Amino acid sequence: MDLRLDGITHHYDGLLALDSIDLAVRDGETVAIIGPSGCGKSTLLGIVGGLLKPTSGRVETIGAPRADSLNPFTYIFQDFALLPWRSVAANVALALEHHKLPRAERHDRVQAALDLTGLSDFATALPKQLSGGMRQRVGIARALVVRPAVLLLDEPLSALDAQTRELLMEDLLAIWARERSTRLYVTHNLDEAARLADRVVVLSRRPGRLREIVTIDVPVAERTGPSAQAVIAGVRDRLWMLIRDEARDAEREVQHA
Ligand SMILES: Nc1ncnc2c1ncn2[C@@H]1O[C@H](COP(=O)(O)OP(=O)(O)OP(=O)(O)O)[C@@H](O)[C@H]1O
Ligand SMILES: [Mg+2]
Repeated sequence: MDLRLDGITHHYDGLLALDSIDLAVRDGETVAIIGPSGCGKSTLLGIVGGLLKPTSGRVETIGAPRADSLNPFTYIFQDFALLPWRSVAANVALALEHHKLPRAERHDRVQAALDLTGLSDFATALPKQLSGGMRQRVGIARALVVRPAVLLLDEPLSALDAQTRELLMEDLLAIWARERSTRLYVTHNLDEAARLADRVVVLSRRPGRLREIVTIDVPVAERTGPSAQAVIAGVRDRLWMLIRDEARDAEREVQHA
């Protein structure tokens, strides 16, 4: 499913959070969104997913979701409230609870989502028996089990330590290769943006305005090869140059507050 954002502007009472965002996202593409704290990244995801109605502008979808997609728009957050008394498989199945499905299909979907996220051997484990990274994989599996047309990821790896984050980035690339959603990926982490996305949208400080769109010239499927590393490092440097002054200003503001 393609997405088209047309002049998205959002006010919270008197506060202008987003100003005239235009963006076209192709089916199957991963677009990262970066920008200083409070510039409206989460607001933008909320608008795309239909949780929030923009003050003006609109989100258009082009093409229908696949027939097996139960939820066209699905979120992945940094923190999933897993039910502690439910097994991994039962936590994943939670996302299917409001859908009438034959028992066999329910089972197959949960198995496929566990397989995609490397959790097949942990189906009967309880969340408290798992590391933080494994728990986040359960959250990702729960999002994928509905086969979303559009995945809306809001800092999905931000609560994890650096090594776990590295592992999850590798996993996400492997998942991207096997499932066909369109993805919007909000992050503060330039490395995640440069490694996981096809394009990176850079927003200004609040009110969030579109500053630049950086295209990464190595296909996502080829990101793990050695020749990709130089390109990724170049993109990361370019992104940092684009945001450093605003990041510094934003930091000063927080310290004076
Ligand atoms: N429900 C709300 N009511 C009023 N103001 C809000 C509300 N939600 C967000 N804001 C404000 O709107 C601005 C944009 O918020 P948003 O959460 O979209 O930013 P963000 O880019 O996701 O920030 P962060 O990087 O910290 O996650 C911020 O100034 C925030 O304080
Ligand atoms: Mg946010």
